[in-house]
Amino acid sequence: MSVNLKKSKAGEYDASENGEEGIAPQQKPFHEEKSESGESDDGESLQSEEKLDSPNVFRKFHFADESGSLDVTIPEVLHPSYGMYTWPGAVVLAQYIWHNRDDFYGKKVLEIGAGTALPGIVAAKCGACVTLSDNELTPKILKNCARSCEENQVSDRVKVIPLLWGLVTQSLLQIEPVDFIIGSDCFFDPKVFEDILMTVSFILEKSSAAEFLSVYQIRSADWNIRASLRQWQLQCKSVPLKDFGADANSLADSDLPGNHSFEFLRINTIRNR
Ligand SMILES: C[S@@+](CC[C@H](N)C(=O)[O-])C[C@H]1O[C@@H](n2cnc3c(N)ncnc32)[C@H](O)[C@@H]1O
Repeated sequence: MSVNLKKSKAGEYDASENGEEGIAPQQKPFHEEKSESGESDDGESLQSEEKLDSPNVFRKFHFADESGSLDVTIPEVLHPSYGMYTWPGAVVLAQYIWHNRDDFYGKKVLEIGAGTALPGIVAAKCGACVTLSDNELTPKILKNCARSCEENQVSDRVKVIPLLWGLVTQSLLQIEPVDFIIGSDCFFDPKVFEDILMTVSFILEKSSAAEFLSVYQIRSADWNIRASLRQWQLQCKSVPLKDFGADANSLADSDLPGNHSFEFLRINTIRNR
């Protein structure tokens, strides 16, 4: 397979740098919620590095159906970086994993752009062998991934690795074949679409029969991921949210999904068909 080596525009995606485009109210929980310490979320007092590093909110999720239930607690940090709090698509992807948990038992799962890692934690709790990854340029986010594991007692079963989209790095080369790549709200900015698809196609190429399960919030009718897939020898199938009980504003006892529109795609390499 030929891989285009291109310089990634990766970095710490900071809402203040990127403006408000594409960022839904639920993606700014700091403006809506009180921190555990009781401090106001929009306060000037959030300047110190120490506060930017420590979890301030512990968000609870409760997945349940007729045959069982699962609780997950996600530590979030009062920080403007995208990966420090849970995005609405994460709840949708976690619901898919919970609904199809038998398919994940004993499987190798890599989460990309994991952020607070709700889907990866659910997969680990459902018996998958999980690796969480996020931007190597944002160690604080990677640290928070590790905190999510500790909080949910899955650290012994989950690896956290740096992985920068769009570049052939040592981390990418060292990734072993997987059964599933998962990613929620990674397609949040068209500037990173090609980088993501490069990384995903590289991993899928060495993982026969694997697929990339991707959920993202539909923010613009002009964004077209499907058009780029073919360039990377990828194809997709859309999964209706109702197929896995995610066609609701509230999931897992969380209102994060709200009335946003999501697309759930199962993406694989064209040779698999
Ligand atoms: C919108 S957030 C979604 C986080 C999480 N998946 C969720 O749904 O809550 C995007 C995530 O992608 C990561 N990210 C952004 N650019 C990246 C890059 N170039 N390489 C790797 N990860 C990146 C960010 O650090 C962040 O955690």
